[in-house]
Amino acid sequence: MSKNKILIVEDDSSIGVVVRAALEAEGFETRICESVAARDELLSQNEFDVMLTDVVLRDQDGINSLGDVMEQHPDMPVIVMSAQNTLETAVRASEIDAFEYFPKPFDLDDLVTAVKQAIARREHAPAGGESGRDFEANLPMVGRSPAMQDVYRMVARLLRNDLSVLILGESGTGKELVAEAIHSLGQRKGGPFIAVNMAAIPAELIEAELFGHEKGAFTGAVGQSIGRFEQAQGGTLFLDEIGDMPYQAQTRLLRALQSGTISRVGGKASIRLDVRIVAATNQDLEKLIEEGKFREDLYYRLNVVPINIPPLRERPEDIGLLARHFLSLASSEGLPNRQIDEDGIAALAKLPWRGNVRELKNQIYRLTLIAREDVISEQLVMQESGSFDAEPEAAAVCSFDAALEQFFRDNRLQSSPGNKLYQKALAEFEKPLLRRVLKEARGNQLKASAMLGINRNTLRKKLNEYGISFSKPG
Ligand SMILES: Nc1ncnc2c1ncn2[C@@H]1O[C@H](COP(=O)(O)OP(=O)(O)OP(=O)(O)O)[C@@H](O)[C@H]1O
Ligand SMILES: [Mg+2]
Repeated sequence: MSKNKILIVEDDSSIGVVVRAALEAEGFETRICESVAARDELLSQNEFDVMLTDVVLRDQDGINSLGDVMEQHPDMPVIVMSAQNTLETAVRASEIDAFEYFPKPFDLDDLVTAVKQAIARREHAPAGGESGRDFEANLPMVGRSPAMQDVYRMVARLLRNDLSVLILGESGTGKELVAEAIHSLGQRKGGPFIAVNMAAIPAELIEAELFGHEKGAFTGAVGQSIGRFEQAQGGTLFLDEIGDMPYQAQTRLLRALQSGTISRVGGKASIRLDVRIVAATNQDLEKLIEEGKFREDLYYRLNVVPINIPPLRERPEDIGLLARHFLSLASSEGLPNRQIDEDGIAALAKLPWRGNVRELKNQIYRLTLIAREDVISEQLVMQESGSFDAEPEAAAVCSFDAALEQFFRDNRLQSSPGNKLYQKALAEFEKPLLRRVLKEARGNQLKASAMLGINRNTLRKKLNEYGISFSKPG
């Protein structure tokens, strides 16, 4: 039996050599080349069983011409290896129907296994999938840590099916962003993306909100209303904060998902659903199940594909990229154009980021406003992080008016219109207020939210956002 032939396209010879050695040790015959031109030359003269290819090659972006290669060699599985490690690369690899995608650095054993699987697939079912190269989507996810690459790979696998997804992660980690990416890059991108926040709807209104109602269905139902499920027809329904859904509504949701149909509250007609479900929560659903607060059967229905987004403190290597991303975002929104140096980033990476990416984003916007120089320094980062954690007493010596004056001076806002002054001032003064009230309530969030007259989830979100926690005195 002749050996299976593998083509390796890799311009980093140190990687090429080890990949080649690993494959030859498994009895494969290999050819290696370093450019698109050499690849095309080899492909025109040889039959290969599998091609392994890097993305950015010396002469060009290797992935752009891959679509053509795959059209000409529909039976040759292609495995993409890339050091780009962005969501974009993972998605592009999936769009051209690559057999597998390996962000560098990867495990050689995994690569060899994928090559064997690719050969097995080729022998049992010749491929020949259509290739789409019109990938133009705007991809807002930043971060190249191994943990985020796992997230990207998962997202890429979800684009051509309608499997239910459950996104888990602390507040501010990017759950909604991932849900949007799954929708806007996937096969339902032409349809609507409808988000509903279970924590924000009063329990008694949830069913009407999700399923709609007929005129007169209950007191106050003056007209007919189309629910979120129907609004999401042909698209994606994002059930946010699913852990906060009241038990009774969970039962109704489960029934809808099981039957694939809904009826409006007070209505008889059964409406067939064509909706992808993506749910998210920052709560521990398994614990809620144990406590009898979440239906286990609903959990399994939603959790077909789980995606775990790790907290920012577990991927500090993403902080630099995120910080620079938010600086350019801030500047595109009319804030001063600032840079940050490596020392500044190192200082950011040491902070706890209890509010995760959202807190980092807010902090970068604040630093942008406060900085008096173009480059945000380590010193400024430290100084501001200090004020974040400072005891309220120390900060509260000046009067409110004096603080307001200082805010104006610091931000040089007097003569700049369109500066969202109201929002900025609110954010500035909300923080000490929340700290003060939390202290008054001795850390009891329920009590604090009652004092403030805001929803407990809103409070929790804001505390996370500002990285405020209450430590009992003494
Ligand atoms: N990887 C990322 N790259 C760029 N921006 C991000 C990333 N992750 C999160 N963000 C930004 O951080 C903010 C919070 O993200 P998002 O709302 O998706 O978090 P969440 O997990 O849904 O939070 P919550 O649990 O509080 O609802 C948003 O402004 C979002 O755009
Ligand atoms: Mg969210």
